[in-house]
Amino acid sequence: MATNGAAIDMANLTKHYPGGAEPAIDHLTMSVPKGQVFGILGPNGAGKTTTVAILCGLLSPTHGEVHINGHNLKLEPSAIRKVIGYVPQDIALYPRLTARENLQFFGNMYGLRGPLLRSRIDHYLNQFGLREHADKLVDQFSGGMKRRTNIIAGLLHQPKILFLDEPTVGIDVQSRSLILQLLEEINQQGTTIIYTSHHMEEAQQFCSGLAILDHGQIIKEGAPDTLVRENEASANLEDLFLNLTGRSLRD
Ligand SMILES: Nc1ncnc2c1ncn2[C@@H]1O[C@H](COP(=O)(O)OP(=O)(O)OP(=O)(O)O)[C@@H](O)[C@H]1O
Ligand SMILES: [Mg+2]
Repeated sequence: MATNGAAIDMANLTKHYPGGAEPAIDHLTMSVPKGQVFGILGPNGAGKTTTVAILCGLLSPTHGEVHINGHNLKLEPSAIRKVIGYVPQDIALYPRLTARENLQFFGNMYGLRGPLLRSRIDHYLNQFGLREHADKLVDQFSGGMKRRTNIIAGLLHQPKILFLDEPTVGIDVQSRSLILQLLEEINQQGTTIIYTSHHMEEAQQFCSGLAILDHGQIIKEGAPDTLVRENEASANLEDLFLNLTGRSLRD
């Protein structure tokens, strides 16, 4: 497989869960250039979380090959762990610890210690509007505050590639707009961002490239504006999405 300096190269990536009638993802082949904000879009059950979990090394594919920053995922997992950050779809924080204690824990897991870790935690708590809440239990946080803390946990070590699974679900407009603005800044500083979403309008504005998944397969891929332009029957990305994936419920 070519490893042409892309952030991510995947070929024929397939996952069958035990007992699943259909594969959750089915021969996904795509490449994401470095520097992009790349959106993985699709209805419930399309295979977004499965794809991201495999790319982050949390789940083994049934078959297929992945290169992250030129490293083979199967052969060089530790090299890959150093360059990626992962923000899961479900909040993964300790409710009985404060925001600062949670971030100390996650920073330690990424090998950060001492004054560097403390200054990174302060920096991001401040940026994400949580300075006043640093020493409160996460249990007492609103959904938006938990989501913002969850994101900081994945980027404290300043990864080259940041994966975020639905980072803007279940939060108000203020939190969402702050998160998108900060992620854009992080991208401008050189981090490739891979994110999954259901929000078509948001993806159209935020992503430089995207893939639409349905039933575990890529049904469209490209720059959002190009996709809309090339599909004249669709007024915007949401319209294109519905035309491609249909209107029936998936869950
Ligand atoms: N641990 C599992 N065991 C069996 N099947 C699973 C498991 N996790 C996911 N699936 C199935 O795999 C398919 C893809 O699921 P996945 O969670 O990747 O979709 P998604 O696009 O992230 O959906 P959502 O938008 O709801 O988060 C679905 O049919 C789902 O039911
Ligand atoms: Mg998911």
